[in-house]
Amino acid sequence: MEVKTSLLDNMIGVGDMVLLEPLSEDSFLDNLKKRFDHSEIYTYIGSVVISMNPYRSLPIYTPEKVEEYRNRNFYELSPHIYALADEAYRSLRDQDKDQCILITGESGAGKTEASKLVMSYVAAVCGKGHEVNKVKEQLLQSNPVLEAFGNAKTVRNDNSSRFGKYMDIEFDFKGDPLGGVISNYLLEKSRVVKQPRGERNFHVFYQLLSGASDDTLRKLKLDRDFSKYNYLSLDSAAVNGLDDAANFRTVRNAMQIVGFMEDEVQSVLELVAAVLKLGNIEFKPESRCNGTDESRVKDKNDLKEMCELLGIEQSVLERAFSYRTVEAKMEKVSTTLNVAQAYYARDALAKNLYSRLFSWLVTRINESIQAQTKARHKVMGVLDIYGFEIFEDNSFEQFIINYCNEKLQQIFIELTLREEQEEYVREGIEWTNIEYFNNAIICDLIENNQNGILAMLDEECLRPGTVTDETFLDKLNTICADHQHFESRLNKNSKFLNDHSLPHNCFRIQHYAGKVLYRVEGFVDKNNDLLYRDLSQAMYKANHSLIKQLFPEGNPAKVNLKRPPTAGFQFRASVGTLMRNLQTKNPNYIRCIKPNDKKASHIFTDSLVCHQVRYLGLMENVRVRRAGYAFRQPYEPCLERYKMLCKRTWPHWKGPAREGVEVLMADLQIPAEEIAYGRSKIFIRNPRTLFFLEEKRKQCLQDLATLIQKIYRGWKCRTHFLLMKKSQIVVAAWYRRYAQQKKYRNIKSATTVVQSYTRGWQARKLLRELKYQKRCEEAVTTIAAFWHGTQARRELRRLKEEARRKHAVALIWAYWQGLKVRREYRKFFRANAGKKIYDFTIQRIIQKYFLGLKSNMPSMSPIDKKWPARPYGFLDGVHTELRKIFHHWRCKKYRDQFTEEKKAVYEEKLEASEIFKGKKALYPSSVSQPFKGDYLEISKNPKYQKLNSAVDEKVLLADVVNKINRANGKGTPRIFLLTKKNFVLADQKTGQVKASIPLPDVTSVSVSTQKDGFFALKLKEGSASAVKGDFLLSSEHLIEIITKLHRIGATAADREKLKVDISDEFLVQFKQDKVCVKFIQSSPKNGNSVSCKRKNNRLLEVSVPTSP
Ligand SMILES: Nc1ncnc2c1ncn2[C@@H]1O[C@H](COP(=O)(O)OP(=O)(O)OP(=O)(O)O)[C@@H](O)[C@H]1O
Ligand SMILES: [Mg+2]
Repeated sequence: MEVKTSLLDNMIGVGDMVLLEPLSEDSFLDNLKKRFDHSEIYTYIGSVVISMNPYRSLPIYTPEKVEEYRNRNFYELSPHIYALADEAYRSLRDQDKDQCILITGESGAGKTEASKLVMSYVAAVCGKGHEVNKVKEQLLQSNPVLEAFGNAKTVRNDNSSRFGKYMDIEFDFKGDPLGGVISNYLLEKSRVVKQPRGERNFHVFYQLLSGASDDTLRKLKLDRDFSKYNYLSLDSAAVNGLDDAANFRTVRNAMQIVGFMEDEVQSVLELVAAVLKLGNIEFKPESRCNGTDESRVKDKNDLKEMCELLGIEQSVLERAFSYRTVEAKMEKVSTTLNVAQAYYARDALAKNLYSRLFSWLVTRINESIQAQTKARHKVMGVLDIYGFEIFEDNSFEQFIINYCNEKLQQIFIELTLREEQEEYVREGIEWTNIEYFNNAIICDLIENNQNGILAMLDEECLRPGTVTDETFLDKLNTICADHQHFESRLNKNSKFLNDHSLPHNCFRIQHYAGKVLYRVEGFVDKNNDLLYRDLSQAMYKANHSLIKQLFPEGNPAKVNLKRPPTAGFQFRASVGTLMRNLQTKNPNYIRCIKPNDKKASHIFTDSLVCHQVRYLGLMENVRVRRAGYAFRQPYEPCLERYKMLCKRTWPHWKGPAREGVEVLMADLQIPAEEIAYGRSKIFIRNPRTLFFLEEKRKQCLQDLATLIQKIYRGWKCRTHFLLMKKSQIVVAAWYRRYAQQKKYRNIKSATTVVQSYTRGWQARKLLRELKYQKRCEEAVTTIAAFWHGTQARRELRRLKEEARRKHAVALIWAYWQGLKVRREYRKFFRANAGKKIYDFTIQRIIQKYFLGLKSNMPSMSPIDKKWPARPYGFLDGVHTELRKIFHHWRCKKYRDQFTEEKKAVYEEKLEASEIFKGKKALYPSSVSQPFKGDYLEISKNPKYQKLNSAVDEKVLLADVVNKINRANGKGTPRIFLLTKKNFVLADQKTGQVKASIPLPDVTSVSVSTQKDGFFALKLKEGSASAVKGDFLLSSEHLIEIITKLHRIGATAADREKLKVDISDEFLVQFKQDKVCVKFIQSSPKNGNSVSCKRKNNRLLEVSVPTSP
């Protein structure tokens, strides 16, 4: 930022008197005048602000100006009260130092205005917010209220503060206002009852009468006319530029903002009205019998109205104005009051009423504006006390006011001049002593505990005996005679004996600001500040809560005989407290100067200003500043504040602070003459050097702030990044999951779609195939149906044709028959009965036929030849057909129950029938005999065990046969075993195998047509078996044996079918010879058995008996 040096450059005159060249009183005044003429009313002496009253409004207190001075270095911009306010506020906020702003100057110099400017600036720059704004508003609005009640027009100032005010504004650590505390100092209450010429009473009286509504005034029993009230001076009731009516509204509004309740405001106004009424009460003497005058209230109307306003019993107050009760040693003595005493009592009551009301107002405002929190706070005190006053007629009040100003001057001297010089000495810095006037001596004259004027006044007031203002002056004359600042005509010091400017009833004090002549009249009374107890008790009895509060001593239960402390004592004590308070704070001075006595703008009265410059000690102030150093600071805080400007001291300096500061300054190349190193502090001569340091620091702080910001931002970004990264991973994981799920769902749904398409396609394909198949089947069926249909239709046609023919024939025949019958029976029947009877008859016959057939059904045996007889000839065909159908059905049923074995047996039986049926006479007898096969039970019978084991294969047939001997035709029993491959002949008794012939060697079998059991097994010629010749055997089971042999031959693939010759004559080869076997039938007479006889070598004759 560009460094502004407006304080030094392009200035009207010199902004800081320290820089004035050459320095003299004239140049000082010239500079002030020059600046004043150019509306530059503020000038610095170092950190002290000189303020000239412009007596006109200047455009230098705008919000823009506030912004301009906000947070700016003190020396950066042209001098302004805002710069001081900003400096004080910032060091309070940033350096935690309590501040006080001491505004001094004579009456009308602009102290109150300056204090308001400071407060408004601080209010503008400190924090904002609903609560803070409320506090600010309350603090600012306390001013109009207090000004209305405590300010008045004087000859010097149209808005002169007639009380001292010190306001502590409390701030929290951030610099936001929390609240405040106001202390008030001695109100000039004498003004209530009497105002010097050209002056007027406190503003509130005029404001109430001008500004209140008619209704309010009626309630307060007041009249708008000022002239109706004794306490209001008439000559200057209206003040130029003061709008009392408008101000009344402002005050009422301010009271509301500060927090006064409506009834409180009403009470306050009632009290104000009561004071006015009180002033109108007049007294008249009434002669008593003892010759004394006793006062009586002249016109009781005002008294009545006042009593009504305050809720006081009229008689009580009336009595209090006529009598006075004195208590001594537990005894009450009542004395009458004369008219003068009654007036004195009235005025005393009015003054007390008003001053107590004023104190109550301050307390009430304090209640509203006090900080709500008990937290530690910082304080900025603003002191606006009545200015130094020199009137023509100065009384106790002026004495007190000027004493207060002396004290303030004292503190200024203490802190600026003396402190400064002493500090140089203390710090061991070379210093040329500057002479200045120390007003401690005047303060001592007034406040000294033993022989101070206030102490002596108190002494006089408390002294028994007659005490008057004169006795007090006498006392002063004796005690203070030697004091160089005390002057009196009756002084021992003869030099004043002929001083006619010094009347006898006066004393003069040479104040720091000039000589002031005080008239002693009223000193004792005002110091005593006594109110007759009867009055305070009358007030206490009032039916008005505020009045009751204001006069607590009127409570008869709390009668205190001790005298209350005197006004002087109280004031001295409170000023003492104030001074001690101010000394604990960092002071900021505003020295107000009044440019002229005419309250006029643009007039610069040299003599007046010169006088003020002198008594304010401003020249000394500049000289001290110029001789010394503009700025000082202990090494530690200095090093702490600027250590960042040098690499060697930053961030920590190890070593004594002073060395650190030296290194720092050397590093910054500050010229040696610019700085001095004290014992504990560094001194900087020129403000510019300090400004340079501050500027450097500011830049450096900016860099440091940037560094901190950089690191913080880095950290923040990193943390944020890590957090983001972490979050991103979570988000990504979730997203991926989501994406994969979505993808999976998509794939799944796609797959489902594809699958469904594929399945659909397959299903459709299958459906097509099935449909095709079905169509084919349907086509085949249709074709078949058509074919069958065609066939059936053809057949039907044929049958129909046949039926038609038959029908035609039958019809013709029937017609013919009918014709015949009709011709024959026409004479018996009617025309239609014949046919119906015929049909019915036919139906009944057929029904009867079927029912009869059902009940006479033959058995299910296929051989059952039974069949019921046919009842009617015309059913012949049907009957035969039904019999055939039934038999076929029965046979099928019979066949269906056959097992495989039984089937085989029947096959054998069938084969036997095919071979023998109708060819051999033996056959019919064999039909009923079952083909048992193993008649010998060869496998079970132990007798044939050996034989059985000799045969490998399953025995198909085992029987005893007779082997026919060729020689005699006799038979020898032999066991005949037939297997699938061969047949075996064995001895019946021994079971020895006689012959085993493989079946392929058997070429044919010969049997007779008779009932005999002879059969010849002819062997293949040339085969090994044929050596012994063919076998001629006889068996009861011939049919079975031959059938089995034939079956084996039929099933074997390697052989030819066995030939069966059936004839009654055949040849049998016995070794080399062929023998003919001839069967003849014998009569039964020759026996029933078959016999075989040898007829010759070549013939065997078998006779077979014929069956009966
Ligand atoms: N900065 C200013 N700008 C404009 N007018 C000002 C300024 N300061 C003072 N005045 C004028 O001067 C008048 C007197 O000022 P102010 O009341 O502050 O004096 P004071 O020092 O408080 O006097 P007293 O000691 O009598 O209270 C004000 O009413 C106002 O008209
Ligand atoms: Mg003032």
